Amino acid sequence: MKIGILISGRGSNMAAIVEAVQSGLIPDSDVAVVISDKTGAEGLLKARKRGIETLSITRKGRAREEHDAEIAAELKKRNVGLVCLAGYMRLLSEGFIRAFPNKIINIHPSLLPAFKGLDAQQQAIDYGVKVSGCTVHFVDEALDHGAIIAQKTVEVKDDDTAESLSARILELEHVLYVEAVKLIAEVRCQIDGRRVIID
Ligand code: GRF
Repeated sequence: MKIGILISGRGSNMAAIVEAVQSGLIPDSDVAVVISDKTGAEGLLKARKRGIETLSITRKGRAREEHDAEIAAELKKRNVGLVCLAGYMRLLSEGFIRAFPNKIINIHPSLLPAFKGLDAQQQAIDYGVKVSGCTVHFVDEALDHGAIIAQKTVEVKDDDTAESLSARILELEHVLYVEAVKLIAEVRCQIDGRRVIID
């Protein structure tokens, strides 16, 4: 399975996936390319240090469809069969999603469907939930909406700030994202409507 990873920033989830592939924890897979929509993204250097090809494809004032088409073409050129969004800060166009049916996954730092969108950890604190966590899900046209593959929970402590909660969730994200990619590499996920059945 050829994996393509899209990032916009730090790239710590990307690095966790690359390391799991390179160590053989995720079997029969190869990270073919890491693509960023930001030239200066910190994660690009992390990817290159791990021997992964990187591309920066900025939007340059183009329409979203055109930008996405260029990214999709680079992924297709490398026979990518799984696209992992890892801190990729753009909504994908319908054309991109249609180009990779049920082959795009994302990680989000909350227990979806709660706290979609930006600043999910701050949203969780503001709402006063006692438990939050992270979710890996298939990507469809709606924001943070596709079928859920896996989730992990963390306790929200009374003295948590967005920073402290984000840091605890991020540690779990790295474990959860690797587990989810491994399930897909092992062909153990079956989508049944909104449900993902794991063998
Ligand atoms: C993570 O919290 C992820 O859940 C969210 O964006 C953040 C990306 O972090 N979608 P990193 O770039 O993987 O370090």
